[in-house]
Amino acid sequence: MSFSVIILAAGQGKRMQSSLPKVLHPLAGKPLLTHLIEKVRALNPLSFSVVVGHGAEAVQAHYDEFSDIEWVLQAEQNGTGDAVRQALPHLPKQNHPVLILSGDAPLVAVETLQQLEALSSTCPLTLLTTRLQNPMGMGRIIRGPDLSVEEIVEEKDATAEQKLIHEINAGIYMVWRDLLADFLPVMSSNNQQNEFYLTDIVNFAVQRQQKIHAIEVLEAWQVMGVNTRAQLAQLERHWQLAQAKQLLAAGVTLFDPARLDIRGHAQVGQDVILDINVILEGEVIIEPGAYIGPNTRIKDSYIGPGVRVEANSVIEGARVAADCVVGPFARLRPGTVLENGARIGNFVETKKAYIGQRSKVNHLSYIGDAKVGAEVNIGAGTITCNYDGANKHQTVIEDYVFIGSDTQLVAPVTVEKGATIAAGTTVIRDVCAKALILNPKSQKSITDWQRPEKKVESTKE
Ligand code: UD1
Ligand code: CA
Repeated sequence: MSFSVIILAAGQGKRMQSSLPKVLHPLAGKPLLTHLIEKVRALNPLSFSVVVGHGAEAVQAHYDEFSDIEWVLQAEQNGTGDAVRQALPHLPKQNHPVLILSGDAPLVAVETLQQLEALSSTCPLTLLTTRLQNPMGMGRIIRGPDLSVEEIVEEKDATAEQKLIHEINAGIYMVWRDLLADFLPVMSSNNQQNEFYLTDIVNFAVQRQQKIHAIEVLEAWQVMGVNTRAQLAQLERHWQLAQAKQLLAAGVTLFDPARLDIRGHAQVGQDVILDINVILEGEVIIEPGAYIGPNTRIKDSYIGPGVRVEANSVIEGARVAADCVVGPFARLRPGTVLENGARIGNFVETKKAYIGQRSKVNHLSYIGDAKVGAEVNIGAGTITCNYDGANKHQTVIEDYVFIGSDTQLVAPVTVEKGATIAAGTTVIRDVCAKALILNPKSQKSITDWQRPEKKVESTKE
């Protein structure tokens, strides 16, 4: 049987010191809540509610297009138990397991949730715990002599002895709907914070002799919540290191696993080398044997086998085929396609540009809205003048063209196969195949030229 999901996301997150609701703060490039929503949707739940309160409008607006989410408003944040109480009427009526997640704990693995699901078929209350060296601020797991879970005690309600317990409540549960329906109307707020604690459901279940199962998660960061910016930064590093380790295990060389950031999904092939401070964003594919130089950012792009991306390059929305060399200091903007063996050098910007096989744009150029054939050589400082102030126009440069340095190509314009453009030319009309094009210019010489001299100001008395 499938299960329902409730995400609790109504809390203020005061300690973030932010005008942005806590669950919208980014981790690995996307909001905390998005991490959970994506995992939940992959599990295809029976029903899916998110409880919002603080900053509800901003949170909801962020997920406008997700019609499968039922937004539940908790007007006053009276505790986690109260939050679930608001969601109860939105659950299907039959008895079935309900997965309850904290909106501020985004990194729980789908496999862990599946473990919870498996146990919940025979157990009305299953929860996740972990052990922390410093458990301060967390709910403690109280176990009986037979090690069964008896109670969860919040930090503020704990005795000195209970505070010594290192096993804490992760705030992630699978509870049968009927158990919730029995507990929620009778729970009390008789505690140090005058809040309705969802955690009291443990004691309630014990009294009713209901079976409770606790799964201890060994990687604590999987279930850690974010309450402060410091914790957010910590969790980011845990997550990045976990991703780096996956790449290492898959045969990728990382010069420093602590200096790689993946904000999205990266598929990286064997024997790829990622130098330091590489940032991979969105959907990135890097084929085997590629080298990505230091301080490079690659977003939503394909990098073919054997490609070298040299230091300090920025690549977005590009397709770079096998054995190309890009950079250092190159910028490939969306719509760039480099065919096999093409070279884009330093201080070159490309946009909506197709560059054919083994063509070279090695220095200081802007190539936009352009189709460049194979074996073309584009000299330093070449500019495609693609914009007339109102519209963008196309430049076509056919195979084997040679373009001298400091050339402007005023689009729309076509340079046919094998043509040569002299240095310093402004190309304003189409060029025939094999032609040489130059703008006539003369060179004057004035002998013994005297440069103006700098005036020396007399110092005032
Ligand atoms: C909660 C648990 C604690 C556990 C810890 C794990 C309770 C009483 N305590 O404590 O045992 O160790 O999580 O991180 O449950 N929320 C609402 N409405 C509210 C209050 C909270 O939606 O009225 C949401 C918050 O937005 C948050 C989640 O519930 O996403 C947890 O609330 P939080 O206040 O962070 O609880 P903790 O004190 O961390
Ligand atoms: Ca919390």
